Amino acid sequence: MNKILPFQIDTRAKTLSCDPQNNAFVQNPYPLYDAMYGKADPLLWQQYGHLVFANWKDVNALLRDKRFGRQILHLTTREQLGWPEPPPHTADFEHAEKYSLLNVEPPVHTRLRTLVNRAFVSRQVEQLRPQVEKLAHTLIDSFEANGTTDLLKSFATPIPLLIITQMLGIAEEDGPMLLDWSHKIVAMYMFGRTPEDELTANQAAKEFSAYLQDLINQRRKNIGQDLLSHMISTEAKGEYLSDEELISSTMLLLNAGHEATVHQTGNAVKTILESTHAPPTLFANDIQTAATIEECIRFDAPLHMFTRYALKDLQLDNGIKLKMGDEIGLLLGAANRDPNQFENANTFDPFRKKNANVTFGAGIHFCIGAPLARLEMQTGIKILFERLPNLKLAEPPTYMNAYHFHGLQKLVVRW
Ligand code: HEM
Repeated sequence: MNKILPFQIDTRAKTLSCDPQNNAFVQNPYPLYDAMYGKADPLLWQQYGHLVFANWKDVNALLRDKRFGRQILHLTTREQLGWPEPPPHTADFEHAEKYSLLNVEPPVHTRLRTLVNRAFVSRQVEQLRPQVEKLAHTLIDSFEANGTTDLLKSFATPIPLLIITQMLGIAEEDGPMLLDWSHKIVAMYMFGRTPEDELTANQAAKEFSAYLQDLINQRRKNIGQDLLSHMISTEAKGEYLSDEELISSTMLLLNAGHEATVHQTGNAVKTILESTHAPPTLFANDIQTAATIEECIRFDAPLHMFTRYALKDLQLDNGIKLKMGDEIGLLLGAANRDPNQFENANTFDPFRKKNANVTFGAGIHFCIGAPLARLEMQTGIKILFERLPNLKLAEPPTYMNAYHFHGLQKLVVRW
């Protein structure tokens, strides 16, 4: 046991004790990962009550392993699993989540993913580049004269939020309301959420669903060229998305479409500012810009843990036995720093050649928005450093107290 570290590993019992809300841990989870690779991996994380895997090989393989899923209630019942019923005060949240891509498994997932993907791809993300460029310039124009700003608020948030709302054909002035609903709903995924958080998230999910139902009704009467219209009218083998699927998927696109990108943008700018690399070399051409952003994505991911359920009783290669319904945690943020996969893994190296990071996941739930998120960051962050070449941190940035959402509270800079 080490008193200085915010975690204790018992290598014999293969257990980990670490409060996910411990500030020292939240500010820097990487020492825990370093203590795990090749030495104590996987571990039973006592506060979560399930195994967690840190090394890249396992995380990458388990994300793709068909014996695991994000959902299990299509195969069995809560009663059989010994799970309690969800509390009635979260019913609207549960309903809004139920039909989303992230909460279903094949064959429902395959059908939904095909339909959403078809609509998404048809927007041809690459065509959005000029729109993102224009938006980045407009935002910088609005704060350039001040000499300082909280970039998280003034830059990292509006880009993904405005782009996804524009894509869906949602009025710009509704943005702040969507942001508020989204923040309240995200609290449901945090460790140690309170009944108040649940009530607030449930109310937000109820209002958000009603807002989207209204929008879908209007859009059905007036189909346009936006992503929501595409999702309404896209069909595969004569099948369309139902209203419930449209609501859940649109909510997911709106929430996933900005929350993670906001925090990845903040983490990326922080990483670059704390590095010794001169920004002009990092953004010297399109290939180098893409490599720089990819390294930022590997080095400090915004989502550190995703879970899976064992879909049947099974045994892993290392002999560990799992029962149907057992949960496992896959530490994406840890896999990205595994020294067996990445040379000098704890060094930010924008010139690295091999970069098979798992920030966007892997397997059937691989992030649908990855090309969009990459484009937003490659375009926005490059313009930011070109326009403000003397950009510096004005105060040390700190992370929010929410372990697996690894994003900054604010990012105050000056130039
Ligand atoms: C840097 C930004 C982003 C990160 C780090 C990220 C990360 C992820 C990860 C790790 C998953 C897989 C979760 C799992 O396997 O359990 C995922 C799924 C998903 N993401 Fe993202 N995401 C980002 C941006 C976006 C954007 C911009 C959108 C949409 C506009 C989006 C939409 C989705 C959707 C719809 C899924 C579910 C896919 C499925 O279940 O088939 N994400 N994302």
